[in-house]
Amino acid sequence: MLHFKTIIEPFRIKSVEAVKFTRREDRERALVEAGYNVFRLHAEDVLIDLLTDSGTGAMSAAQWGAIMQGDESYAGSRSFYRFRDVVQDLTGYRHIIPTHQGRAAERILFHSVLEEGEVVPNNNHFDTTRANVEVEDAEARDLVIPEGRVPSQIHPFKGNIDLAALERTLDRDGARVPLVMVTVTNNTGGGQPVSLENLRGVRKLCDRYKKPFFLDACRFAENAYFIKIREEGQGGRTPKEIAQEMFSLADGCTMSAKKDGLANIGGFLALNDDTWAERCRNLLILTEGFPTYGGLAGYDLEAVARGLEEVVEEPYLRYRIRSIEYLHERLVAADVPVIRPAGGHAVYIDARALLPHIPPLSYPGIALVNALYVEAGIRGVEIGTVMFGRQPDGTEKAPAMDLVRLAIPRRVYTQSHIDYVAEAVIGVAGMKDRLRGYRITKAPAMLRHFTALFEPLPA
Ligand SMILES: Cc1ncc(COP(=O)(O)O)c(C=O)c1O
Repeated sequence: MLHFKTIIEPFRIKSVEAVKFTRREDRERALVEAGYNVFRLHAEDVLIDLLTDSGTGAMSAAQWGAIMQGDESYAGSRSFYRFRDVVQDLTGYRHIIPTHQGRAAERILFHSVLEEGEVVPNNNHFDTTRANVEVEDAEARDLVIPEGRVPSQIHPFKGNIDLAALERTLDRDGARVPLVMVTVTNNTGGGQPVSLENLRGVRKLCDRYKKPFFLDACRFAENAYFIKIREEGQGGRTPKEIAQEMFSLADGCTMSAKKDGLANIGGFLALNDDTWAERCRNLLILTEGFPTYGGLAGYDLEAVARGLEEVVEEPYLRYRIRSIEYLHERLVAADVPVIRPAGGHAVYIDARALLPHIPPLSYPGIALVNALYVEAGIRGVEIGTVMFGRQPDGTEKAPAMDLVRLAIPRRVYTQSHIDYVAEAVIGVAGMKDRLRGYRITKAPAMLRHFTALFEPLPA
């Protein structure tokens, strides 16, 4: 019997979308017009778009088929009950509240349960999660394990929360902690997974201090697959069984179905607590819609329901995790500094290490993102000082890392696209001495990375 080493895409392609090839001078002009912020580019001027893996995936024929079955009734639609049943089967939570995307679930949860001056511990808050905590005048406290802050340090579960630090927070500030959160996988820290053992540890502490425990579950399936292949004793279980155990250790979750829901839009808040659920539903009605559609069309609920079934299939997850690792291996072989090991949805380049001549407050991540666009038409995203450096008091402080994330949309690009990306990153890394820093010329107070305008610093 042959034993194959090649892991192939577990699908074939029956619908394609052309990508537009542009010239270097066109991209230079487009970037100037965008204020040197790739968020402001026209997407059709991007050849390979690795800005995000959120909502950018390809849906399956089964999902498109399910879309045609969407029931658009305002209240009590059949599509809601199908969605609810799938989410409940996976998570086991009592209340399933659809939302239009993840940040809506975050806003509704935090606005319903957080008070001014309270503290939310997490391994690492993602930008929208942090912003939704801070907008309530509460503190978003990041407690990832120390290994999670060192890009080059290898650890199988680098997304784990530091249980001792969590215990200290609960001990000292427990009265101000309404809930504990853990993000799976840890996007801000490199798409790194959290182990079942760590989640069990959080559960124990939450029981001891009587605190609800929520997962930010956007990439629960990728996390479950990492547990399967890395955690002792888990290899024989299915990703779905592992995911079910992950959810069972918590009391609720926020979810962006634009990631491991394999949908282009959608999300949910799911929880067990009746009082909190009622409060959240009331706010949902005010801002998102009736509780059986939550800002989504019936057909979106169908797409998410089917996506949640497909995402835990083992051939899909094996291909998904391996395809990220493939790009990672090529960059490591070329000595490009990256967060190690590979994450679940993206490769994270350590821009601070690659560009030591650009200080954090001159945004080395932006320098690298912009060079990748101009040289190769690839759009990545800075996850560093621009995204996280602005303090609530308006001052600026460099966060632990300046990263550039190349997020891989699900089921969209083929291996040759990824080979091109590897070639481009290695080429740009080779011209690193020519890259310059930037300064911000205009930015809003919150979530500035989306809309800020930049200017290159003089050579
Ligand atoms: C870990 C994490 N939490 C929350 C969100 C917010 O989800 P959405 O973009 O659907 O609002 C994201 C999106 O990237 C994320 O990665």
